[in-house]
Amino acid sequence: MKIGVFGTGIVGQTLAARLVQLGHEVCMGARNSDNEKAAGFAKTHAPKGTSGTFGDAASFGELLINCTNGAGALEALKAAGDANMAGKVLIDISNPLDFSKGMPPSLLTPSTDSLGEQIQRTFPKTQVVKSLNTVTAKLMVEPASLASANHDMFMAGNDAGAKGKVKELLQSFGWRHIIDVGDITGARGLEMYLPLWVRLYGTFQTAMFNVKVTR
Ligand SMILES: NC(=O)c1ccc[n+]([C@@H]2O[C@H](COP(=O)([O-])OP(=O)(O)OC[C@H]3O[C@@H](n4cnc5c(N)ncnc54)[C@H](OP(=O)(O)O)[C@@H]3O)[C@@H](O)[C@H]2O)c1
Repeated sequence: MKIGVFGTGIVGQTLAARLVQLGHEVCMGARNSDNEKAAGFAKTHAPKGTSGTFGDAASFGELLINCTNGAGALEALKAAGDANMAGKVLIDISNPLDFSKGMPPSLLTPSTDSLGEQIQRTFPKTQVVKSLNTVTAKLMVEPASLASANHDMFMAGNDAGAKGKVKELLQSFGWRHIIDVGDITGARGLEMYLPLWVRLYGTFQTAMFNVKVTR
């Protein structure tokens, strides 16, 4: 599949590399076409890996993944272009973290909203699915790298067909336990988990952990 990855940080790099490994063609997008990190990905992963602007990645991808900084995500996606994203599934991994007052970060969105919803409202023709934002980058694409692979991934989105496609992709990464928490308003809980994630990171002194819901 042709996939457009927005973002050149650790999440974008990790996702894009794993997708190429799985046989997909990936265009990594950045604000500028000469972005060194995106060009580095393309050089290492040619010919399946390429790079360009957010707009280039958006028009290239049949499926899109948002791995941009939460504070700049809407700006990045607006640069990607409404028309380039229309009719496509967008997996939103971004977290609306506010580091402006130092650690620990707070959230940029109130508890009655979420970045996932803001993205869906801004791009109504795109099917936004919030997922993967609750684990560190390595675990997103290698859930089995934890000693117990019996841990959960969540997703939220309005479109059942879009969530089905995302589920397939997550399964190709190795996810076995995927919990659908409903429509895109479910992104609130997935993003509000981040303050707890940060505390757990402090407790464990490693990002290599995840949660398991039992009942
Ligand atoms: N790090 C993790 O393990 C982890 C885990 C779960 C979720 N997340 C979330 O995943 C996202 C990516 O995290 P990351 O650590 O890989 O990278 P990051 O440093 O948070 O974001 C890097 C990307 O954001 C873009 N960006 C930053 N400010 C922008 C602005 N004002 N306008 C447009 N684009 C802007 C950058 O564009 P350029 O390339 O042009 O500079 C770059 O591509 C974040 O939302 C983060 O909260 C991260």
